[in-house]
Amino acid sequence: MLITGIAELVTCESTTEGAVDEPLHAGLGVLRDAAVVIGGGGEDSAPTVEWVGPAAQAPAADWAIDLEGRSVVPGFVDSHSHLVFAGDRSAEFAARMSGTPYDGGGIAVTVEATRAATDGELRATLQHRVQEMRAQGTTTVEVKSGYGLTVEDEVRALRLAREVTPEVTYLGAHVVPPDRRDPAGRAAYLDLVCGEMLQACAPHARWVDVFCEPASPHAFDGQESRRVLEAGRDAGLELRVHGNQLGEGPGAQLAVELGAASVDHCTYLTDADVEALAGSDTVATLLPGVEFSTRQPYPDARRLLDAGARVAIASDCNPGTCYSSSMPLMIALAVREMGMTPAEALRAATVGGAQALRRTDIGRVAVGLRADLALVDAPSWLHIPYRVGVPVVRALEV
Ligand code: NIG
Ligand code: FE
Repeated sequence: MLITGIAELVTCESTTEGAVDEPLHAGLGVLRDAAVVIGGGGEDSAPTVEWVGPAAQAPAADWAIDLEGRSVVPGFVDSHSHLVFAGDRSAEFAARMSGTPYDGGGIAVTVEATRAATDGELRATLQHRVQEMRAQGTTTVEVKSGYGLTVEDEVRALRLAREVTPEVTYLGAHVVPPDRRDPAGRAAYLDLVCGEMLQACAPHARWVDVFCEPASPHAFDGQESRRVLEAGRDAGLELRVHGNQLGEGPGAQLAVELGAASVDHCTYLTDADVEALAGSDTVATLLPGVEFSTRQPYPDARRLLDAGARVAIASDCNPGTCYSSSMPLMIALAVREMGMTPAEALRAATVGGAQALRRTDIGRVAVGLRADLALVDAPSWLHIPYRVGVPVVRALEV
């Protein structure tokens, strides 16, 4: 399949020959008047990119589509979401807009509704949310459990998530269930999360995550989080951390120390946190939809980038802190509110997300990589943040 008529092709690949040399497009490997050839793909394998270059030099192919001056970017890699849930918390959002702060307590509402839902109900809403993401340009999504909080309900969430993505995360340590908040109950729940629940969940997940937030009575402190992560690692899982969302805390440095792929939120970072992140491979994943939906201050992406840290942006799509699946919105917020240039924000939503998931086959457009592309209905990729709120991007179905 030959795709031609591409006004701007963003490759996110520094070695792209003939890429435009303009500051606005720095780091994006942008080709103008480009073409891409896609091949392969079958029962067990995804289509891959076979050729990238100027349209005038494109080889012949069996099929061709002409994009007539539209643009193409790598499909977005949304490295943080909680899509397996039931119930509605719109009233909690409304309360926050008039001043009620977020503390994680509402998670219990979703846990109750999710436990009560049938597999069929959860599967249908999950698939709908994934489709909603594709319709906005997302081609890879990470999905967490964390609204079950019993062995059976956590396994169920992971099995369902595995039907839509290989990037599945065990988050039994999302919150301590409300009926176990007394010290003995809390200790017993932690034993469960690091013991029987972990053993049952590990075969269905790639990652383990923990809500490390000493500022919330519902979440886990540094010591508890360390225990969850080390147990997960011993069970063969790779590490991710929810950290520094509601206040300064140990999450970011714990993530670095344990070699986590990513620490997510990073809303409140000390200089030492930024320094630790900059000296590591751990990606700082920023979730600006959360700050939008909780009225918190946005994290300072500029500070992280200038220090040399790796930065990704993701949606965190979940019923509590951000019920938006829109990566284009996250890019726009990153540009408008977090000090990122449009090019940095696009990189953070593509190749940055891929780094946060330790994937080298996605997030860029280059020969041999997955043909996960998104179509921008505009003459430049810049229209993604420029036309905020307008559905200009969608996954390219090949
Ligand atoms: O990433 N902070 C912890 N977990 C989610 C919110 C979950 C919820 O409120 O339902 C987050 O923001
Ligand atoms: Fe989250």
